[in-house]
Amino acid sequence: MDKAKESRMILRYSASQRLNHWVIAITFMLLALSGLALFHPAFYWLSNLLGGGVWTRILHPFIGVLMFLCFAVFAARMFRHNLMARRDWQWLGRFREVLNKREENLPEVGRYNGGQKLLFFVLIFLVLGLLLTGVVMWRSYFAFLFPIWAIRLASLLHALFAFLMICAIIVHIYAGIWVKGSVRAMTRGTVTPGWAWKHHRAWLRQLRGTTPHK
Ligand code: HEM
Repeated sequence: MDKAKESRMILRYSASQRLNHWVIAITFMLLALSGLALFHPAFYWLSNLLGGGVWTRILHPFIGVLMFLCFAVFAARMFRHNLMARRDWQWLGRFREVLNKREENLPEVGRYNGGQKLLFFVLIFLVLGLLLTGVVMWRSYFAFLFPIWAIRLASLLHALFAFLMICAIIVHIYAGIWVKGSVRAMTRGTVTPGWAWKHHRAWLRQLRGTTPHK
């Protein structure tokens, strides 16, 4: 990219926000794969990733706590940008237009669209659910504090939340790839003015201090 174009790029994520996000993404991948290894014998071979069955059982919960802490920091940094506004509900109500790539029929979008904001809160719910149920199941440190029925219920819910989390992250990755130019926001930190105008026009106006023409 030439120097003039480079200078027009808009910063969307700082280096520390990107680092924060990618630690979450890597720990999530490790958790999903090692979790599958613990879930069913058909996936046991995945335990090789963390050095075998014993190491998987030891490391999985610690990596889980690490992901939770990193996610808590990232979610706190992103929280105010994800509060639902009226235009986000309208955006969600016209989801068919989104799927058909007719963005001109949608209300102007702020820093995040209604779908991203909804997913943000789903992720908060699932990460919290995974942490709480995981602690109840954590044999070496906490499980002895709980009755057996609670540990069984926690195991069931942990698997359910993990399944939903994997589905949610598949949607998240698919959406990031589908909206061309988004992955670059999380790798290099910047987006083009065209990307911001097309997908997050209200955010661009806010950055530029302009109001829409009536
Ligand atoms: C390999 C996996 C992942 C990829 C490729 C990926 C990709 C992306 C991209 C491209 C963005 C920027 C979207 C934008 O600015 O419009 C983003 C934002 C974000 N990602 Fe990921 N991500 C991954 C995993 C995760 C995981 C595991 C989590 C959480 C558990 C997560 C949580 C978030 C959050 C909270 C945002 C900010 C969006 C918001 O606040 O609404 N990501 N990701």
